[in-house]
Amino acid sequence: MTKVAVLCSGGDAPGMNAAVRAVVRTGLSHGYHMLGVENGYAGLIDGSFVALNSLSVADILNRGGAFLGSARSPEFRTPDGLATAVANCHQHQIDVLVVIGGDGSYAGAATLVAEGVNVIGLPGTIDNDIACTDYTIGFDTAVNTAVESMYRLRDTSSAHHRASLVEVMGRHAGYIALYSAIAAGADMVLLPEQIKSQEQIAEELIGHQKMGKNHQLIVVAEGWGDSAQLADYLASSTGIKINHDVLGHIQRGGEPSSMDRIHASMMGQFAIDLIAQGLVNQLVGWRHGEYMCMSIEAGLAAKKTLSADMLKLANVLSH
Ligand code: F6P
Repeated sequence: MTKVAVLCSGGDAPGMNAAVRAVVRTGLSHGYHMLGVENGYAGLIDGSFVALNSLSVADILNRGGAFLGSARSPEFRTPDGLATAVANCHQHQIDVLVVIGGDGSYAGAATLVAEGVNVIGLPGTIDNDIACTDYTIGFDTAVNTAVESMYRLRDTSSAHHRASLVEVMGRHAGYIALYSAIAAGADMVLLPEQIKSQEQIAEELIGHQKMGKNHQLIVVAEGWGDSAQLADYLASSTGIKINHDVLGHIQRGGEPSSMDRIHASMMGQFAIDLIAQGLVNQLVGWRHGEYMCMSIEAGLAAKKTLSADMLKLANVLSH
């Protein structure tokens, strides 16, 4: 009987549970033996495998977090850690391992493939920074959470005629920042992909004030740089009162949106369909409105850039 194991790796993302549920239930519908691995690659090293049936994944569709646990495992990057993980996969006779995670998790998957373990990757990260897919599970929920928080901050900054400088997650990529800035009507967005000098930012704030804006919303991606230092600089150089808030892990938690649940469920099913066709060592994605897959090697080599149209729009709408 085909044995499929599933794990969540890296930063958790809302919708990871929905993906596990879909993988398990579609796998069971093919007659596969389904297992979960607890705490990502760390669980592969510890041998933390658990049998999963249909009921094990009941009542998790709407739950944020990762019920199997998720982790970043420095030990997995060592030769000994990798060897133990591979030995455990062989000992448990795992035919295919489904890894739900981001780029770092995919790099880990590539090392497993090189050691003869079959892997399918599903994109699970709030950052939406995986090149081989237009969408990653968790992104929509994270953006919705950020936008809701920004509207709360808008209420108070408009009452006090201040500027709100809000840092959102996104270590290497500005997707959450750009999307939430457009959806929240931000006056400025600062992205790692598009560096502006502090002087230029201060000038733009003063320009907005002169136009008659008595409150402003500035969205900063985590990967842009030190937002606290920027807030101090802007307060002292412009004289505008600045509220500085870091949304942080709030963006990772909470109920997944319907969009995240649907993409997670479809991608989970897609992963099992690939296994049924005998196709492994693939990354599942959603591109140009279709679910698709690409080899792990090609996926890791691909590059993703922010949409030039969206960047232009964010700029035009802020004036
Ligand atoms: O990759 C997802 C993410 O939430 C990033 O946006 C953020 O930089 C990072 O994880 C934070 O990781 P940790 O929770 O391990 O500090």
